[in-house]
Amino acid sequence: MLSSAAVTLRSSRFAYFAPSARTMSLHVQDMIFRQLFDRETCTYTYLLADAKTKDAVLVDPVIELAERDANLVQELGLNLKYAMNTHMHADHITGSGLLKKLIPGCQSLIAKASGAMADVHVEHGDKVSFGNQTLEVRSTPGHTNGCCTYVSHDGKFALTGDALLIRGCGRTDFQEGSADTLYDSVHSQILSLPNEFSLYPAHDYKGQTVTTVAEEKVYNPRLTKPRETFVDIMNNLNLDYPKKIDVSLPANKVCGLYNLPEDLAAKLKDQ
Ligand code: FE2
Repeated sequence: MLSSAAVTLRSSRFAYFAPSARTMSLHVQDMIFRQLFDRETCTYTYLLADAKTKDAVLVDPVIELAERDANLVQELGLNLKYAMNTHMHADHITGSGLLKKLIPGCQSLIAKASGAMADVHVEHGDKVSFGNQTLEVRSTPGHTNGCCTYVSHDGKFALTGDALLIRGCGRTDFQEGSADTLYDSVHSQILSLPNEFSLYPAHDYKGQTVTTVAEEKVYNPRLTKPRETFVDIMNNLNLDYPKKIDVSLPANKVCGLYNLPEDLAAKLKDQ
């Protein structure tokens, strides 16, 4: 049985751990928030919109599901401003290019440091606006050079891409990855946010949907370790070479375009 002191400690700690109601409801604090899932790559795509003006953004769309996303945008009567990415993905082709084709007026957006083509390039400190909603761009390199985290201060959440996953983090063994850099990025730009902020990753392989700053500060099995231990863990993961990397990276380098080079389109068909 827990002592009353322990109960107090647990309850104050867990005050921030309750899952956000945001995923359950359509309209919260004037923002429409939808978390969409790709079963094949376990990628989350986020549709965010200003509930009043209907201006919207899609974050980390997947090419195979671009039509699903475009349909939802249409059904909700939204005006999609940006199809944007947290980084240049290795495991899937971004839906940005196809969405531009499906929804005229939509622009692609990615960090300048990613080295990928897009209509709009952002850098650390920039703001991405849609209606009265704003996302702050925070540069969080380490998984790739061009990773960024998008923070909604009003909504008290951040989209962390692959920099921080629920109880994990993105691998650092390709795409100019660096465990040392990732450690700095996560601690200085993500875990420095208020404890109650919800964190939404670009992937989850175990069926979890959201975490909080407070939870990851206590339970992340990698990032709660000292830097040297973290670097050692990351350098010894011995992960398989990503299945789709040879197709995904060249395609994502031109993420603002839909007309893929012929050889790439042929490779895609074979998959
Ligand atoms: Fe990634």
